[in-house]
Formats: sequence, structure tokens, C-alpha cells
Amino acid sequence: MDLGNNERRMLKAMLSKPNQEWSLEQLLSVTGWNDQVHVAGAGKGLQEEGMVEVKETTSRLVSLGEEGNKAYENGLLESRLWDWIRSVEEDQRNMGSLISSGFDRKESGPGIGILKGLGVEIVSGNLVFSDEEEITKEIARRTDFIKSLSNSPVEASTMDEGLISHFSSRSGLLEFEETTTRTWKLTKSGSSVDKSELIESQMIGELTPEMLQTDSWMGAEFKPFDVQAPAPTPTGGRRHPMQSLIERIRSVFLEMGFSEIDGDYIQSAGWNMDSLFIPQSHPARTMQDTFYLDQPEKVEIEDSYLDLWARVHEHGHDTGSRGWGGEFDKDESQKALLRTHTTVNTVRHIAENPSQPSRVFGIGRVFRQETIDRTHMPEFHQIEGIIHEPDASLPMLISTLKTFYAKMGYPDVRVRPAYFPYTEPSAEVDILWKGEWLELGGSGIFRPEVTEPLGTEWPVCAWGMGLERLAMLILGLDDIRQLYQPDLERLRKMPLL
Ligand code: PHE
Repeated sequence: MDLGNNERRMLKAMLSKPNQEWSLEQLLSVTGWNDQVHVAGAGKGLQEEGMVEVKETTSRLVSLGEEGNKAYENGLLESRLWDWIRSVEEDQRNMGSLISSGFDRKESGPGIGILKGLGVEIVSGNLVFSDEEEITKEIARRTDFIKSLSNSPVEASTMDEGLISHFSSRSGLLEFEETTTRTWKLTKSGSSVDKSELIESQMIGELTPEMLQTDSWMGAEFKPFDVQAPAPTPTGGRRHPMQSLIERIRSVFLEMGFSEIDGDYIQSAGWNMDSLFIPQSHPARTMQDTFYLDQPEKVEIEDSYLDLWARVHEHGHDTGSRGWGGEFDKDESQKALLRTHTTVNTVRHIAENPSQPSRVFGIGRVFRQETIDRTHMPEFHQIEGIIHEPDASLPMLISTLKTFYAKMGYPDVRVRPAYFPYTEPSAEVDILWKGEWLELGGSGIFRPEVTEPLGTEWPVCAWGMGLERLAMLILGLDDIRQLYQPDLERLRKMPLL
């Protein structure tokens, strides 16, 4: 016999009167429970063990509806009509005088209908009847029926079936409610159980250190876990998915031996563009694409750099290049702007450490005048990196990017020739996602026009990739804006990284 505590308690209580058919109330009182759920649960358990028989009876309670209550207060429609008919002369028993006597027009039609059902006829406009006594009796019977329901609901099976069905067909007079009552009775096998076997043991739901220390858990029963039980979804804090992604990228690069750098959002056009040999006439430098600032309007740049960039841009200096020609504008170079790419961080890093080999990366926000749509925002993030050392090479660049993306879960990477003013060769980096090649960023080896003014002679592998694009893939988003809206519900449901 494998009974739980509740079953044991109920069985024991029922064994005090083995032949009784128990009601819910009786079982609550003998078991001492205050919740009917216990009786129902234990009763079901005992029923499954074949020890208890559960009987269900459904009852139908009748009570007065809204119209029924009105009928109780004012009298049934047929009763009021009948009183009127008998109070007037025979030749007055017609619709016209009924209405002029003040009887509600809306009631008169249905009222006559009901009277017809009772044996009243209309003969040349007048209401006539033969068996006055019979009609009076029937109306009294109906009135009594309504009265009998005025206090409390009555079990339908104890009432006149004909009247129930009659009133059911009249709207709003009666209301019905079905209830199921159960009774529990011991079966033969239930009543043969030895009461002394039914010992309730302590059920342990949660094991405490005290229980372990005092050995009180020994011999106790453990509440089984219900792994199907509904449980609240924990909504504790979590990192914003974008922040988790940044953390993950950070750890991948650190793992690969890179160090992290960062820089300011506010930069000069000189460091953001001129240092990268982006011609001053380049379309991306216009107000349509770049956020220039009023405050500060200008960011000063050391003359030595301005002079070098001027020479490189105008005629190539001694880089072997012919430059862009024209005249370099040093004021243009010192215009303040919000950085348009994080490449500004890596060139500044080289300028500050020209003779120190380095592998560095940075993850940061950049700003461009983009129209907001599904895949564009005026603020977004880039993942930038360089390898600056004597043997830096294109194969090294490609294998580094492949390693990075493989660690992020995208083992299929390809590079395609591309163009950037500051790299040669230049390559676009794509990854394979669901059978499609997606472009994630640019890369290349910095041109001498870039590296010479920075003071280095070593090659520099460089790359810059969009983070949002990667976030959309990894988080399964089809709209980048979802990441930046404060919709906690949605953010909570995004995958953990
Ligand atoms: N700065 C480029 C961009 O914003 C990416 C890039 C970085 C390309 C470094 C080549 C080398 O798209």
C-alpha cells in the first residue's frame, strides 16, 4: 500500500464509520482540513487505490431571474391581465380599452398571447372565455410557483416539471445553476484496512541544516518534486543583450591575445579622417553624413601632424604616393565631430606607440547621420582591431578574422576585394549564415600614406566591423531597433549569451 499522508489521514477518519456515505462537510470536519482541495485530492488517490467509491450527483438549482423578481413584486403578467378582464364589463374586454386603462402597450401583446394559451379567445375583437374557474386556478398555481422561489434557489427535481418548462420558455423569469456534489464511501477493500497501519509521517519539503545535524530527517518522508508544476518565470536582473554580446566579444579577443583600447566620442576631422588619408573632399565628410559639433567647434591638433598630413594629402610626401593633389585645409582638419568609426582609436594608438608591436581591439559607439530603419541607426557600435608588428600580413589578418568569427559561432568566413582610402589591399569580410553570405565589415593593410605620418614602418593589419549586424544574427532579430527600445518583456526573452 503506497498511500500519501493525506490519503492516510482521510482513510483513517473514514474508518471511524466504515459504512457511512460522507459529504464534503463531514469529511472536512473529521479530517480537520479547511480546504476542500485536500478532500478531493486524497479522495481521488484512495479511489485510484480501490479503497473509496466517489459518487457524483449533479443538481440543478432554480431561482428567479430579473423578470421573475419583477413578477414576484408586481404579479405575473397573466395575473394582472386576468384581474383587469374580470373587473370590466364584457363588451369592454378588448385591446383598446385595455390600453386606455393604462396597461403598458409593450406588455399587452405578449399578455394576450399568454392568456390565449390559458384558454381565452378573441371573438370579434373581444376577449372571451368559458372556464373561468380553471383559468383562475392555473394562474394561482403559477403565482405560487414564483412565490416559492422568492427566498432562495430550489432544487429543480423537487419542483413541478411542467411549470419549469413553461417558465423556461419565457425570457428572464428563471435562472438555473448546475452544481455537482460528491460523496465518499469506503469500499470493501478500504474498510478492511487496519487503522493502526495508517501512521502519518512527517513530510519534508525542504531539508534544513538543522535537520541534517539532528538526524531528524532519518526515517522521514520526502515530498516528491513535481517538475511539471507551474512556476513563476524568474525575472531577476540580467545584462542587456547588447552588453552581454560586447562582453563576449571582449573575452574572445582577450583570449586571442589582444589588448583593449578605447577613445573619446568627440574627435577632430583630422584624426577621424585626414590621418586615414580620406580626401578632404570625400562625400562621407559632408554634413549629411557626419555629425559636426558646435561645442567644441574645434579640436586642436599638433602642428607636426597637420604638416605631415598636409604634405601627404597634397603630394604624397615621401610615401611613394602622389597624394590627392589640391590644397590641404588645416582648419577643416581641426573641426570637431562625433567619431564616425573606431578606426580613429587604432590610428591614435599607433601614433602614441609607433615602435611598440601591438595587437589591440576596441568596441565602441560611432555616429553617422543615418535615417533610422530596420537595419540602421545613427548611433551604432563597431568592433575594431589592428595587428601592428614587423611581420604583419594579409594571411595573418584573414586567419585572425576567421578565428574570431569561428569563436563567435560562425566558422564560414570569406573575404572579397574592396576599397577603403586607407588600406591596400582592402577586403570585405562576409560570414555564412543560413546559406547566405552576409557582409559584416571592412579590413585591410594600412597604406603607407597612413602609417608613415604615424611614425611606423611596420605593416598594420586593420579591420572594423559592425556590431549590430552581428547582434541581429546572434539574437535572432529582424529589426535592430528592438535592441534599443525599453521593452523589458522582449529584452528578457532574448537569448542569454
Ligand atoms: N572603418 C571602416 C568602416 O567604418 C572599416 C575598416 C576598418 C576598413 C579598418 C578597413 C580597415 O566601415
